[in-house]
Amino acid sequence: MAAMDATSGYDRMKELKEFDESKMGVKGLSDSGITSIPRFFVHPPETLSDFKNSSSTCTNIPIIDLSGIINSKDNDHRLKIVEQVKEAAKTWGFFQVINHGVPISVIDETIHAIKAFHDQPHEVKAKYYKRENELGGVMYTSNNDLYRAKSAAWHDSLQAWMGPEPLKVADLPEICRNEVVAWDKSATEVAETVMELLCEGLGLEAGKFKELTFLDTRVLVGHCYPYCPQPDLTVGITSHTDPGVITVLLQNHVPGLQVKHGDEWVNVRPVPGGLIINAGDFLQIISNGEYKSVQHRVLANSSKEARISIVIFFNLAKWKGDGYHGPLPELLSSEKPAIYRNFSRQEFVENFYSKGIDTKSLIEKIKIQN
Ligand code: OGA
Ligand code: NI
Repeated sequence: MAAMDATSGYDRMKELKEFDESKMGVKGLSDSGITSIPRFFVHPPETLSDFKNSSSTCTNIPIIDLSGIINSKDNDHRLKIVEQVKEAAKTWGFFQVINHGVPISVIDETIHAIKAFHDQPHEVKAKYYKRENELGGVMYTSNNDLYRAKSAAWHDSLQAWMGPEPLKVADLPEICRNEVVAWDKSATEVAETVMELLCEGLGLEAGKFKELTFLDTRVLVGHCYPYCPQPDLTVGITSHTDPGVITVLLQNHVPGLQVKHGDEWVNVRPVPGGLIINAGDFLQIISNGEYKSVQHRVLANSSKEARISIVIFFNLAKWKGDGYHGPLPELLSSEKPAIYRNFSRQEFVENFYSKGIDTKSLIEKIKIQN
């Protein structure tokens, strides 16, 4: 591919580099008062026309009330919740949990702290701006996949690897340090509860996923989607599936997240205090296709107020002895043969880090064709 667009003299790589080296992020561009976005943010017409396709109906992803199962031994009630979680993970791949036991004050403080990080003056944030810590530590950047994706998206992110090796807490920016540590703890408790329910939904022992270390690798990402002056030309986050086991997502009240359901894109309306859970590719594979890892995306933010979301991607820390993973043997039978082949850790990591987030996921690659 030519670096320079011969017809227009547009040097995309040069523009990308200048933006990256300025370390100002899209928040900086937005705050500078620009009225048109740089060309490398503009998405192709196919993507943009699909954005006009959003559902205007009032559907929302399933909402699951966990109040009856936290600290309760009511088994009949638990079975009902297991059914709800199973159904949601099978048909939507996404659901919202409420009454999950995390105090609203912790939720509000987390959102506030991540917003405060992104609201800091450019000079303060710039010292965290980098790309080389993608697989560990703390990194603040605009578009993790800036140089890999075809078009950039209108968000900046602060990323921290919370496990399996304990993070050096002092590496976190002071303005959100305590809140990030507290959020990791709270969200991990919720993830443990949800993983138990997901296990039971598959007929496995409740503690199976924990035992398989599915709670141990955790990447926390605090996204900021600032006001975009041309929201019809770009996206907040490109359509993708998450690679890991599950994702726990906390968002503020500014909407934008959409989930693919059948042929429709459904808006995820923020529910105060609610946490969004979604299945990743890894869970779809090891559940042999029972649970679905579903495409989702975020619209470019047209509101003057920034949209803030804090996601934690949960993933396994220990691969099996032979270094492979695949559909769990407990779930397979002659009636239900494996629909995916086993894959190695290397395939898993390379698939995610070698390209923009929008390209084909691992799932397609390892599907057994018959
Ligand atoms: C992600 C993601 C959605 C959001 O980070 O993988 O899908 O609302 N984020 O920020
Ligand atoms: Ni995602």
